[in-house]
Amino acid sequence: MRVLVVGGGGREHALCWRLSQNPAVDRLFAAPGNAGMAEVATLVPIAAADVGAIAEFAERESIDLTVVGPEVPLVAGLADELEARGLPVFGPTAEAARLEGSKSWARSLCERHGIPVPRSGAFQEVEPAVRYLRELSPPFVIKADGLAAGKGVVVAADRDAATTALEASLVQGAFGRAGRTVLVEEYLEGREVSALAITDGRHVAPFAMARDYKRALDGDEGPNTGGMGAYSPVDFVDRPTERRIVEGILRATVAALEAEGIRYRGVVYAGLMLTDDGPKVLEFNARFGDPETQVLMPRLRANLGELLLACLEGNLSHYRLAWAPEACVGVVLASSGYPGSSRTGMAISGLEAAAAMESVEVFHSGTVARNGRVVTAGGRVLTVTALGSDLPQARERAYEACDVIGFDGKTYRTDIATGPAQGEP
Ligand code: AMP
Ligand code: GLY
Repeated sequence: MRVLVVGGGGREHALCWRLSQNPAVDRLFAAPGNAGMAEVATLVPIAAADVGAIAEFAERESIDLTVVGPEVPLVAGLADELEARGLPVFGPTAEAARLEGSKSWARSLCERHGIPVPRSGAFQEVEPAVRYLRELSPPFVIKADGLAAGKGVVVAADRDAATTALEASLVQGAFGRAGRTVLVEEYLEGREVSALAITDGRHVAPFAMARDYKRALDGDEGPNTGGMGAYSPVDFVDRPTERRIVEGILRATVAALEAEGIRYRGVVYAGLMLTDDGPKVLEFNARFGDPETQVLMPRLRANLGELLLACLEGNLSHYRLAWAPEACVGVVLASSGYPGSSRTGMAISGLEAAAAMESVEVFHSGTVARNGRVVTAGGRVLTVTALGSDLPQARERAYEACDVIGFDGKTYRTDIATGPAQGEP
C-alpha cells in the first residue's frame, strides 16, 4: 500500500509513525513533512495547501490512501480533487468540511438537530450584533465564522470590548473573509475536553477522550496558541458523561449530516465545554487535533492504515477501537516568542537520547534537517510524549525527556497534566 500524509506538524508525524508500523504500508510519503517524519517517510516538497500539486503527485505516484492532516486543504477541496481523480482520501469534501470552515453553518446544523450548543447569533453587521448582546450577560464570546488559525475567538469582558471586537472583524477586516460573518455567543463555564471520532458517514468509531492546553503560559495565562500540550485519558470525564458525548454529540452530528444529505468521511472532532447543564459544543474540527493526536496515537490499539481504509470502504461498523490502559502526556517545546514571531534555525540537541528513554516518543512540528543536523523551523518545534501507568507517571517521564532536549530559546509549559492529579482545573 502506498500512503501519502498531507501536512508537516506533530499531528502528521504521529500519524506517519503509526502508519509506518503497518507492514502493509510499503511506501509512505509526507508533503511537506518535517525532519522527524523523514525518518519514517519520504518527504515531498509540496505545501499542504497546494491542492492541485498534491492531487497531481498522488495521481502520478498511484497513492492508495491520502490522509489529510490540516483543515486548510480540506476546506479548499483537496478531498474533492482526489476523489475526482478516483484516488482514495481520508478526510471530508469541501462541502462536508464546512463543519469546521463555517462556525455559523455548524451552529445551525446543531440547532436543527438538537445537538447542545451555547446560545448564539450570526451577524454580518455591527449594529444588530450589538443589539443581540442585550440578550446575553457578560462576558461575551465573539467568533469569526471562518478559518482563522485559532485566532478568531475573543472573550470580551463587557459591551465595549465586545463592540470593539465586532468592529475589528466586521469593519476593519481583522480576519479577512473569515471574519465577514461573526458569531456572538453565550460564555460557558466549565472544563474543556476534545472528543474525536472516525466516521464513514454512518458508523462512528469514537476515540478516547483527550484534553489540550491552548494558552501559552502556565496556569492558562497568556495568548491562545495552536496547543501547548495534551493528555489522554481525561480523568474528569466519567462514563455517563462520555456516553452522553458519544451519543448526544458525536453520533448525533454524523446522523445530522447524513440526514441533510452530506456524506462525511474522516474525523469529527468536537471541542466541548462540560457545563453544569451537560457537555456543549464550542467548535467542530474536520480533522485530527494537534496536539491531541500525539497523545492518542501512542494509546491506539489498532492498525491505523487498516482502520482508515475500513472507513473509506464504509466498513467501520466492524471496528471497535481499543485503547491502551496507560496514560499519555504530551508537552510542546516551542521557540521563545511563540505564538508571536520567533527565531528559527537553532540546532536541537538530545533528540536521540530523549527518544531512547522509556515509553517516550518525540514528534516533530517545526523542524528541518540542515547539514546533517536537526534545527528549529517554527514556533512549535516538538511534542515530547510519554506513556505511563497513570497520568503522574506519564507526566514525569515526558518532562524528564523535555529536560534532555536542548535548543536556544526552548520554552514550554510546566503544568501539563498537573491539574487532574491535584483535582484542579
Ligand atoms: P474555539 O476555537 O471555538 O474552540 O474557541 C477557542 C477557545 O475559546 C476555546 O477552546 C475556549 O477556551 C474559548 N471559548 C470558545 N467559545 C467559548 C464559549 N462559548 N464560552 C467560553 N469559552 C469559549
Ligand atoms: N487542538 C486543537 C486543534 O487541533 O484545533
